[in-house]
Amino acid sequence: MSPVQFDLQRREIAGVGVRDLAEKFGTPCYVYETDTIRQRVADLFAFDVIRYAQKACSNIAILHLMRQLGVLVDSVSGGEIHRAFAAGYAAQGGPPQIVYTADIFDEETLDLVVEHGIHVNCGSPDMLEQIGRRLPGAGVTLRINPGFGHGHSQKTNTGGPQSKHGIWHDQVDDCLQIADRHGLAVTGLHMHIGSGTDLQHLAEVCGAMEATAKIVGRSITSISAGGGLPTLYEEKDEYVDLEQYFQLWDASRQRLQDEFGHRLSLEIEPGRYLVAESGYLITEIRAVKQMGENLFYLVDAGFNNLARPILYGSYHPMSICSQQPSDKMQSVVVGGPLCESGDIFTQEEGGFVATRELPVANVGDLLIIERAGAYGFVMSSNYNSKPISAEVLVHDGQPHLIRRRQTIDDLLGLESIPGLE
Ligand code: LLP
Repeated sequence: MSPVQFDLQRREIAGVGVRDLAEKFGTPCYVYETDTIRQRVADLFAFDVIRYAQKACSNIAILHLMRQLGVLVDSVSGGEIHRAFAAGYAAQGGPPQIVYTADIFDEETLDLVVEHGIHVNCGSPDMLEQIGRRLPGAGVTLRINPGFGHGHSQKTNTGGPQSKHGIWHDQVDDCLQIADRHGLAVTGLHMHIGSGTDLQHLAEVCGAMEATAKIVGRSITSISAGGGLPTLYEEKDEYVDLEQYFQLWDASRQRLQDEFGHRLSLEIEPGRYLVAESGYLITEIRAVKQMGENLFYLVDAGFNNLARPILYGSYHPMSICSQQPSDKMQSVVVGGPLCESGDIFTQEEGGFVATRELPVANVGDLLIIERAGAYGFVMSSNYNSKPISAEVLVHDGQPHLIRRRQTIDDLLGLESIPGLE
């Protein structure tokens, strides 16, 4: 039996009526529930540090929840460092509460990192040089590209020669020289080869981690498994065996501890795994129309709200919340309001339009795009001058607005016409 079953009709999210949520907060609207996040965090208790890759869903209320659950945070931009501060994370700490992981510094972020002494996970020799000049003597970690990668889509594969991420595995010696020149201590290594990793690839990553750690030597006190833990989007998907996942990393950690004669901390850095399941995008069906052989449900959210289908052909489960629920199913294409034909939620990689079996529904019914908590809201845009949606967190059975919907004033307020200021 499939480990997960998705209902095609949905009346509530964590005890709160979907219709009530739509009426109170408008559509389209992202809704997250705290309980699932709590459970997913608890799944990973065996790791010494769970560091949330906030790029997956960076609302400060979500970050605050993570902090309360004892989860530390990864930031990939100055903006994400500011978000971590706003959620109450401290600049330093042991292990560092906030880590900046990137392949470059822009000047502003370099200044911010230096000002607060944020721990840096360097993804290029140039970053190492730049931080070395500004913060000689600091401790840094290196993000290594082991020369291979794996992802749910070519676009989420972050290892191998086609990826821009990390320090190429055979340049570790050069990096150690840069570090020595500036008195930097390389305190840890990090490998993230892609989103949607499996155990076979993981075993290779662990091997590469051990080999690289031996080159760096005893200054290492932590290793990070990166992110990439998959989540279930379709009934045919399978959970990764977390026990085995941990065992593989733990065995590498043990061997390195024996080699170095001191304890190493084992970190994991998931984004999707912690938040994907908790998030729902509530939309309203605004038109139902037949186009040749295809029946379309056109909803009021588009790829400006959820870009994963158009970017990667990603599949998201969907359900209907109807005033008059129907048991009758039909094959439909689900699309959005944008003036672009690729604005289709039921598409496969390459842009091929697919159909989905959904209950018969009418204009005014709600269509919920599920498992949208990771890389959903955060990849929103204002394309077609659509205001960015609200975000709501359901906590202890109560919905809380955690980001208000953008207004037209928000949209236009940053622009000006020369001569008319
Ligand atoms: N750590 C690093 C260094 C990363 O680059 C990433 C993701 C993560 C952790 C978290 O990966 P996760 O556990 O979420 O798979 N927008 C794409 C995903 C891009 C992931 C980029 N890096 C999507 O919607 O699938």
